[in-house]
Amino acid sequence: MASSNLYPTEELRRTDARHYLHPFTDFKALAAEGSRIMVRGEGVWIEDSDGKRYLDGMAGLWCTNIGHGRQEIADAVHEQMKELAFYNSFFKTTNAPAIRLAEKLSKLAPNNMSRVFFCGSGSEANDTILRMVRYYWSLRDKPSKDIVISRVNGYHGSTMAGASLGGMKPMHSQGGMPIPGIVHIPQPYWFGEGGDLSPDEFGLLAARELEKKIDELGENRVAAFIAEPIQGAGGVIIPPKTYWPEINRICAERDILLIADEVICGFGRTGKWFGSHYYDIKPDLMPIAKGLTSGYLPMGGVMISDRVAEVVVGIGEEFYHGYTYSGHPTCAAAALANLEIIEREGLVDRVANSCG
Ligand SMILES: Cc1ncc(COP(=O)(O)O)c(C=O)c1O
Repeated sequence: MASSNLYPTEELRRTDARHYLHPFTDFKALAAEGSRIMVRGEGVWIEDSDGKRYLDGMAGLWCTNIGHGRQEIADAVHEQMKELAFYNSFFKTTNAPAIRLAEKLSKLAPNNMSRVFFCGSGSEANDTILRMVRYYWSLRDKPSKDIVISRVNGYHGSTMAGASLGGMKPMHSQGGMPIPGIVHIPQPYWFGEGGDLSPDEFGLLAARELEKKIDELGENRVAAFIAEPIQGAGGVIIPPKTYWPEINRICAERDILLIADEVICGFGRTGKWFGSHYYDIKPDLMPIAKGLTSGYLPMGGVMISDRVAEVVVGIGEEFYHGYTYSGHPTCAAAALANLEIIEREGLVDRVANSCG
């Protein structure tokens, strides 16, 4: 990566401070210290406007799975933009890259997920999911099943539904969250909260918190359980190996939809295509984003199992839901090129082999 120092850093910082309201940023610290202005990326490296290089251990924001600066993605986006930069997917319309991408994802996903609903981000995916699970149960004549159980310290995005599904108290304290119909159970955090129990004992106990909550609320009130295979934003909380098999069992026995939030874990991060493969999770719905395009363009989606699709698509008439950028052709072209690179370079296996 050629280093350069041609950026007017101080002037950019002053303008940034005046006009750009940053996400997830302590405004006082920002005012005192000024911002880092990133200008360039190549492979695992990024560079700021002072010419300082950093090893990008955060991979963008847990998303740049193929590394920075890949020409192939730029070429795919360029070609698609010349052909058809954008058109909507509402009202019986679609586009070739979104179709190809949906087919490709259905081949990669676990547990008979042959359909995908596209959106712009992980938060939008989880907003979609909250609506879809309630729609699903109302189509099955069980509209009282409208509560989603989630976990303390889980992270599912920053919209009202996403932040409510998430279990971050500081987020809840701003803006009246969680919204009604979302309740939280403890996280499977053996390292911090396991006490004298073995990891296996603690994993079972943490999973059975779900069963306890279903009993408390009544099975006829519970629509779904949502969790990340490995909890990311709460501190990278890796569940004991007994946790997910027990969650699978409880959701199947109690007729509760299981949602595996793969926004971070998806696309190779665990050495499998999805965290659900790694833990043998049987999800009914799966939000995806981040590694779907490696962050080169914003895109998210909800993978939908045949069990759910048979109801939502099979019985339902119109799901009054969609985003202007659902199935965005240029983002889909970036995603296809990204998946092609992950496959061709064997990145999923390389992750598995480098992690042992
Ligand atoms: C597990 C998980 N779900 C959802 C989201 C929200 O995704 P986005 O920031 O694209 O809205 C994130 C973001 O970090 C996440 O880690």
